[in-house]
Amino acid sequence: MLQFAIPCMLGLESLVGDEVKKLGLADVRVENGRVLCRGEERDLARLNINLRCGARVLLVLASFRATDFETLFQGTRAVRWEDWIPREGEFPVTGYSINSTLHSVPACQSIVKKAVVERLGAAYGLETLPETGKRYQIRFSIMKDEVMLCLDASGEGLYKRGYRAVGVAAPLKETLAAAMVKLSHYNGRDPFCDPFCGSGTIAIEAALIARNRAPGLNRSFAAQHWAMVDKRIWLDAADEAMDNEFHDKTYEIWGGDIDQRAVEIARHNAELAEVDDTVRFEVDDATRFHWGGQYGRVVTNPPYGERLLEQKEAEELYRAFGRAVDKLPETWRVYVLSSHTEFERCFGRIADKKRKLYNGMLKCDLFMYGKRL
Ligand SMILES: C[S@@+](CC[C@H](N)C(=O)[O-])C[C@H]1O[C@@H](n2cnc3c(N)ncnc32)[C@H](O)[C@@H]1O
Repeated sequence: MLQFAIPCMLGLESLVGDEVKKLGLADVRVENGRVLCRGEERDLARLNINLRCGARVLLVLASFRATDFETLFQGTRAVRWEDWIPREGEFPVTGYSINSTLHSVPACQSIVKKAVVERLGAAYGLETLPETGKRYQIRFSIMKDEVMLCLDASGEGLYKRGYRAVGVAAPLKETLAAAMVKLSHYNGRDPFCDPFCGSGTIAIEAALIARNRAPGLNRSFAAQHWAMVDKRIWLDAADEAMDNEFHDKTYEIWGGDIDQRAVEIARHNAELAEVDDTVRFEVDDATRFHWGGQYGRVVTNPPYGERLLEQKEAEELYRAFGRAVDKLPETWRVYVLSSHTEFERCFGRIADKKRKLYNGMLKCDLFMYGKRL
């Protein structure tokens, strides 16, 4: 069996854990900032193609304790790197260290590199390794002196679904947008609205979730080019994912933005994501937002007003948006992501629940409103 690690944004661990369990992986362990699990080779492809909230998929090759460079070197050299990295493979090393004796990342990086060079050099009978082939990115983590050595099977982060060709000023990562939709318990039945849609990320992720469409079907992954991995696992995983997709249902998923250009970008992104028949984007003012129907969800990411001057504008916007939302039936659920510390006061209501999330480096709260939360 293989071991995998799936790093994720802080606050999303339990959602990623649930996704991994749903895919049937074994020994799922949720830790701070990552989820560990065991599976087979085919799960390299299944995890990459299906995960919505995880940041990337790492293949774990070793875990051991090290408080000095010699132990780090020996522990790294003992790994059978030649089982994964062919003679020409390129293997850059990157990593991080938290609360550990070995705290110099550049020093650990060069020790790990040296140990892998020695191991592969001996395995292939070469003094210099060419590194002219496909990339096998090595990622190490050292947390409280526990070293983990991994190969990055994703390449570009999983948030890069391949549908966001052009961005807007403050786009949300796709993984975070998917997490917000999941936290809203969107069921695909009720109306789903994002009145500050920007490039459309939240609504597009909602459409992918409603249709049960795997987010990774329109992109490629580093491990697809790995020589030692059976190429068929990617086709099989894609087939499995496509079989699970719903095709004959209708949905009410809508995004609005005051900026015409943002709406055009959102529409284009929806086409690239192949959900343009599922989600609708329109130019509209969120302060006049209204919708018919007893049940529904608003899941949104309004401007935060990062700079002092803009803060007042953001506060005014929250007030006006709060008045609009007040007119919705009480049975609606509303989820707003903001880093603004005065959000609730301006919006005019204390959240029924809050969840701390990070939008990049920015600490935010997901303010949740609804009778049935
Ligand atoms: C933080 S961005 C949203 C980014 C979006 N989640 C994405 O992933 O691209 C906020 C958006 O709110 C829009 N906006 C500002 N005031 C608005 C208003 N009164 N009505 C609707 N949209 C507005 C801006 O044009 C901007 O696109």
